[in-house]
Formats: sequence, structure tokens, C-alpha cells
Amino acid sequence: MGILNGKTAVVTGSTSGIGLACAQAFAGAGANVVINGMGGPAEIEKERAAIEGEFGVKAIYSPADMTKPHEIAQLIAHTEDAFGAVDILVNNAGIQHVSPIEDFPAEKWDAIIAINLSAAFHAIRAVVPGMKKRGWGRIITTASAHSLVASPFKSAYVAAKHGITGLTKTVALELARSKITCNCISPGYVWTPLVEKQIPNTMAARRMRRDEVINDVLLAAQPTKEFVTVQQVASLALFLCSDDAAQITGANLSMDGGWTAA
Ligand SMILES: NC(=O)c1ccc[n+]([C@@H]2O[C@H](COP(=O)([O-])OP(=O)(O)OC[C@H]3O[C@@H](n4cnc5c(N)ncnc54)[C@H](O)[C@@H]3O)[C@@H](O)[C@H]2O)c1
Repeated sequence: MGILNGKTAVVTGSTSGIGLACAQAFAGAGANVVINGMGGPAEIEKERAAIEGEFGVKAIYSPADMTKPHEIAQLIAHTEDAFGAVDILVNNAGIQHVSPIEDFPAEKWDAIIAINLSAAFHAIRAVVPGMKKRGWGRIITTASAHSLVASPFKSAYVAAKHGITGLTKTVALELARSKITCNCISPGYVWTPLVEKQIPNTMAARRMRRDEVINDVLLAAQPTKEFVTVQQVASLALFLCSDDAAQITGANLSMDGGWTAA
């Protein structure tokens, strides 16, 4: 009997990286899951079927685009139709773009704010009525060490992630008497496609080689000199769904190898 038997979790941006690990961890604890995100249909179907096969839960895929508020509302409504509830929401979808501020493309700013910040607002407002009715809920957002500190050339990402901490605290206070917790997790660098994709732009912006970007930019910030793993982030998300975490709300939990302690 898993701790999430009978629960339903929506994890945005779960076709790869941290989100996929969260969906797998929740399914392993007995939850039905809704996976979401971009990618090739065959690859996504393989991941979805593997979750059902390995964990004996139901897994469905939603292609909802996190830049589109009406698709986010539909994602939540369809989940409630399919499973009767959204008990756990993980706002995880995220993108990155690295550029000096004067060259930062306005459309990249808009996309990052939409996916990394506004999507969480749209999803939270859609799940809260059902969670209140059932008197239980867990809302978790993947923030970042960049919710606490800045790095050059990441203006939109840093702004969005700082915004997530404010949204998390506000929602936690509003829901404090409803047995619904709202927290964010702030990983340091986790080796995922999102990190790999930003390496070429960082190489260009800083005029560095790939190994220099990995060791002197990415891991430079992390005193442990190790990447966080997706499983470590997923384990913390799973813990936040447990009864033992019922009094953790409004928190921004760092998992960054000591980065923000410095
Ligand atoms: N990797 C890191 O070092 C790191 C560190 C701190 C925080 N984070 C955060 O973790 C989250 C997950 O990132 P990741 O590293 O696993 O990256 P990833 O690239 O592996 O996953 C990102 C997910 O978001 C999805 N996505 C992107 N645009 C979308 C859209 N418009 N609509 C729906 N889904 C969309 C992708 O398809 C993918 O499933 C992000 O919010 C990111 O900011 C990552």
C-alpha cells in the first residue's frame, strides 16, 4: 500500500528531467498521474506506458501548452473528469534562455515568464476549488536556486523563479486552514536536458569552452561540486506529499549542494 494510493497527481513538464522523475516517484507511491510536456509522441507514449506497466497505476498524457491559460484550465478539468480529483499539483514545466539583457529577445522573456511563472498561477487557481472541497491538497513548484540568488544573463529566469517564491508564500497563507500545503523546491544544477541546452549559449555569452562552462560556471556555484539528481528532487517532492510534511507550507526548500549557503 503506497502513501499516495487513491490520489491523483498532475505534473507539468513531465516528459523529461525532474518532472518525469516526480511522476515516476508518485506512481511508485500508488498515485495515478497525468504527465504533460513537449516531445515526440512515440517517446512520450513509451514513458506513459512504462509508468502504468511498472507501477500498476493509471497514467494519462496531456499535451497542454503551459503558455496557454485555457489549455492549463483544460488540463485540470480533464484530469478531474478522468480521475475525479487533482490531489497533487507539481508546477514543473520550465525553459531557460541565456543572454545579456540588452540582447535578450522579448519573445524569450515572455515565454519564460509564461511557462515558469504564470502557468503556476493558472494551474493553482484551477486546482484549489477541488482541493478545498475535498479538504486535502499538495501544491509543489519547482523553483530554483535562482529563486534566491541571481546569475548574469538569466534575467527572465531569475525574475520568474523569484516570482514563484512570492506566489508560493501567498498561496500557502491563503490555504493554511484548508489542509492544503503549497511549497517550492529550489534545486541547484540538476543534469537534465534544460541544463544541457543552455551550455552553447553560455559558451557564447562568456566566451568559454564546454568543460569550462560545466566546471567554472555551473558547478562553480555548488560547493559539493556535484550535480543534484532528478531522483533526489523527486524524493523531496514525494516527502512533501506525506502526512509528515503537513506542517511544511510556504517554504522554499533548497537542494543545491550548499550553493545558497555561501
Ligand atoms: N535542471 C536544472 O539544473 C534545474 C535547476 C533548478 C530548477 N530547475 C527547474 O526544474 C524544472 C524542470 O526542468 P528540467 O531541468 O527537468 O528540464 P527539462 O528540459 O528536462 O524538462 C522541462 C519540461 O518542461 C516541458 N515544457 C517546456 N515548455 C513547455 C510548455 N510550453 N508547455 C508544457 N511543457 C513544457 C518540457 O517538455 C519538459 O517536459 C524547470 O522549471 C526548471 O526551471 C531545473
